[in-house]
Amino acid sequence: MPAARVMARRGAGRGQTRTVTDIDLLSPSSFAHGQPHDQFTWLREHDPVHWHPEPGGEGFWAVTRYADVRSVGRDPATFSSVPGIMIPDDGAMELGEHQMMIMTDPPRHSSLRKVVAREFIPKVAQAMRPRIDVLATNIIDQVAAAGACDLVPDVAGLMPSYVIADMLGIPHEDGVALYELTEAIHAAPESQAAGAAMQAILEMFNYANGVWQARRAEPSDDLADIIAHATVDGRELDVIDFNLFFLLLIDAGGDTTRNLVAGGMDALFAHPEQMAWLMADLDARLAPAVEELLRWVSPVVYMRRTAQQDTELRGVPIRAGQKVVMYYGSANRDPEVFGPSAGELDLSRAPNDHIAFGGGGPHFCLGAHIARQEIHALLRELLTRCVDLRPAGETEWLPSTFISGPKS
Ligand code: HEM
Repeated sequence: MPAARVMARRGAGRGQTRTVTDIDLLSPSSFAHGQPHDQFTWLREHDPVHWHPEPGGEGFWAVTRYADVRSVGRDPATFSSVPGIMIPDDGAMELGEHQMMIMTDPPRHSSLRKVVAREFIPKVAQAMRPRIDVLATNIIDQVAAAGACDLVPDVAGLMPSYVIADMLGIPHEDGVALYELTEAIHAAPESQAAGAAMQAILEMFNYANGVWQARRAEPSDDLADIIAHATVDGRELDVIDFNLFFLLLIDAGGDTTRNLVAGGMDALFAHPEQMAWLMADLDARLAPAVEELLRWVSPVVYMRRTAQQDTELRGVPIRAGQKVVMYYGSANRDPEVFGPSAGELDLSRAPNDHIAFGGGGPHFCLGAHIARQEIHALLRELLTRCVDLRPAGETEWLPSTFISGPKS
């Protein structure tokens, strides 16, 4: 596919110094200070369906406009989640008839999602709020007196690990340890020891095996029990299905929610006038502010799909089998939808049709309602209890091209 070279000078002659050769969405260095919005802006304007080379792989289409991200995500018949939702294919395991829900298409996907969906509906998320408020109080209790802390592990990371631990019926400290494994799973391979991601997955499966055995031996009233006793399309789920569900649930809600809270605070520190606006009426303004922070931070950088047949997007031909990657952070700054202020943080933004949880297709974030409760409770507690909050040092960013947020 010679497209990268052919397009290499696109934009030249229009006062643009950037060329497509400057685009690198696979290098952790592009994400060293958050998402590469300069690259996204160029791509949206000049090459919104961009052929991106992939060292050691066949390359992929980088889709950066809001309308296109939504249409890809809503069309699983053309853009499949099989064989996976990350760009590299090398982590694929031979799992036979077992699949992780996020890597399936309807109708299989619908059957798997039905197993857990009712535990994530808005009514259930709302009913969890008093408990989530208590967790928020406990988390801030642990740091308030100290005067300083690392917001990422000491505050933001604890909430999602406690909540999913409660839902799965495992101890809080195990939830925290399992979340640490997800970081190794998401880190760019060149940023850690060879095999570290696979080692983390195996440790997760090892732990999940124990939970499976415990629930099969003695039923309980938690989400782990529901999965351990589920039947899907006439087949009882087995320990491998259980492990895949367990990994997905631990993995999907942890660093995403954490990065939103920590990245959101980083954004508030960088925009003191927005922080002042929020604090002037926190109760009334926190809900729209959370939506704007979701748009601004967009913790999930991308989801990948694979073309099922030859098709086209914005007039660009896409061949069957090619990878198509939806960049949510870019879509969420598209002026076509968010107007001329798309690149500004405006906590009062309304309407705010961000797609940080996905563009509304079948895989739309299962945990969106719970995530909002967690984020709201934790920010409220943090901002009301800790007056005169200030950054204690520079924000360090995660070396990941998949999940964006502060590391420390
Ligand atoms: C700020 C926090 C979060 C963000 C930004 C986020 C974002 C996303 C995105 C972008 C997707 C893919 C959507 C698509 O492909 O259309 C997704 C899927 C998913 N999320 Fe979240 N998420 C968050 C929190 C959570 C939480 C707290 C949980 C669980 C407790 C969770 C569970 C899931 C699951 C299970 C899926 C896969 C759904 C499926 O395949 O049907 N997420 N999330």
